[in-house]
Amino acid sequence: DDPAADPFAIAAQAAADIARLTGVDRHDIALTLGSGWGGAAELIGETVATIPATEVTGFSKPALEGHVGTLRSVRTPRGKNVLIIGARTHYYETRSPRRVVHSVRTAAATGARTMVLTNGAGGIKPHWKPGTPVLISDHINLTAATPLEGATFIDLTDLYSMRLRDLARSIDPSLDEGVYCQFTGPQYETPAEVQWAKTIGGHIVGMSTALEAIAARQSGMEILGFSLITNMAAGIQTTPLSHQEVMEAGQAAGPVISSLLARVIGAM
Ligand code: 6GU
Repeated sequence: DDPAADPFAIAAQAAADIARLTGVDRHDIALTLGSGWGGAAELIGETVATIPATEVTGFSKPALEGHVGTLRSVRTPRGKNVLIIGARTHYYETRSPRRVVHSVRTAAATGARTMVLTNGAGGIKPHWKPGTPVLISDHINLTAATPLEGATFIDLTDLYSMRLRDLARSIDPSLDEGVYCQFTGPQYETPAEVQWAKTIGGHIVGMSTALEAIAARQSGMEILGFSLITNMAAGIQTTPLSHQEVMEAGQAAGPVISSLLARVIGAM
């Protein structure tokens, strides 16, 4: 939080902590697990090490039930080292973009060239029933925040890699895709805000991912984004939204989406 501190130096320190604590010097792929996606770790490969995020520089305690708070190094059958981040910091926790993207910058500092971002989110398309996994094709950052500091003009064309979306669709041709709108939260949107998101070209509403994708692009990573539709957004579904509902939909869809994610990462 020290404005004079260099966030990339802190990330390099965190990467050194991870290398020391896991015994794995380099990671190829990083994966952030959002609500519902937690079961993927076991299916991706053999766990080399699991460490509490609190032992790594710059990571804070998990704020929320359902958010694990561990970092795990897993080796895929093809021999890729995957850093699994079960410790996401949401923007609504501290309103510090630096904190939010620290895990992404750390992943890049461990050597990862691919960033897989997953989340649980609300769907604007009514045919997306709860439990549907959707590829993120692009995003609209509605937080009014950015992880970039200073005159850092970064191109965000093809931010969510077409190549990796095609790879995912080669595993599951039925995968649909949509534009992810990152709201600040923690309140869910009003029905009017959801209609506005739809009008400006959004299909998915959530509270994460966009700021992380921007930082991942800044670090030169290729990005794949997945949303699990845990519920229809406010006003699309007529019943009230609850964190409980979001968690339950995540649990129910867990086995199917975890195996999808593991197959996609296995094909990288
Ligand atoms: Cl409807 N909105 C937001 N912002 N995040 C969500 C959600 C909705 N459902 C799950 N996560």
